[in-house]
Amino acid sequence: MNIFEKYRGKLQRSLSGRGIFNTISLIFSKSMHRFQFRKYDFWGLIETSELDGSEELKKHAVKYEASNQIFFKKLLDNVEWQFETSTLVDFGCGKGAALIYATEFGFKKVIGVEFSHNLSQLASDNLKKFSVQKGGKVSYEIVNIDASQYEIPSEADCFYFFNPFDAFIMEKVFQNIVKSLEANPRKILIVYLNAVYKEVIENCGFKRLKYLSKDELDYYFYNGGCVYTNE
Ligand SMILES: C[S@@+](CC[C@H](N)C(=O)[O-])C[C@H]1O[C@@H](n2cnc3c(N)ncnc32)[C@H](O)[C@@H]1O
Repeated sequence: MNIFEKYRGKLQRSLSGRGIFNTISLIFSKSMHRFQFRKYDFWGLIETSELDGSEELKKHAVKYEASNQIFFKKLLDNVEWQFETSTLVDFGCGKGAALIYATEFGFKKVIGVEFSHNLSQLASDNLKKFSVQKGGKVSYEIVNIDASQYEIPSEADCFYFFNPFDAFIMEKVFQNIVKSLEANPRKILIVYLNAVYKEVIENCGFKRLKYLSKDELDYYFYNGGCVYTNE
């Protein structure tokens, strides 16, 4: 199968969904993004069946795919937030792509939580490489654990989700976030890309600050993206 045959279906869907101008501009921006991060191993899709880790967790997990920096930026653009004093946790950090985008956005510290040992290892390798490139100034931590078992540190105030798991795990994670806020009240931000289970967040009483539809983000992101806060 040549490269054209491989991408023909995707291209046809994009042309009919976005039109020719937006398709060309998306191809261009994605190529620039790939070029900028060419030294990092973020790419590809990994089905949950191919991930290492507990079979039970895999039933609740979503396949690995890196966030796109363009959508990450679109969600955070114009959100009033003190990024330079903020610590972001990416629940289901995969290979660490969003952690790197967050650092570039100005976050003080980034924490990646990932249940797959192999992916968390790759995230550590990518963040280490990035930190060296930035003169060792990047503050990061990768934790190889099920997100629902992760004890949220009081410094964490921005929580990122790129549709990592189903409502069952989301509910447990949000119980932990609420508990952490009761113990250490603080203003938080929740950023949810491909927001499939937003009712879990809304049922906890968090307020929606921003919603970007699939069309404002990208045709393929069927559930758009949301940003929430607690104050
Ligand atoms: C769609 S990928 C997102 C990757 C990354 N956040 C990014 O934006 O580039 C979802 C990730 O969530 C991870 N995941 C799924 N269930 C998990 C769980 N219970 N605990 C921790 N990570 C989980 C998967 O292994 C996968 O790496």
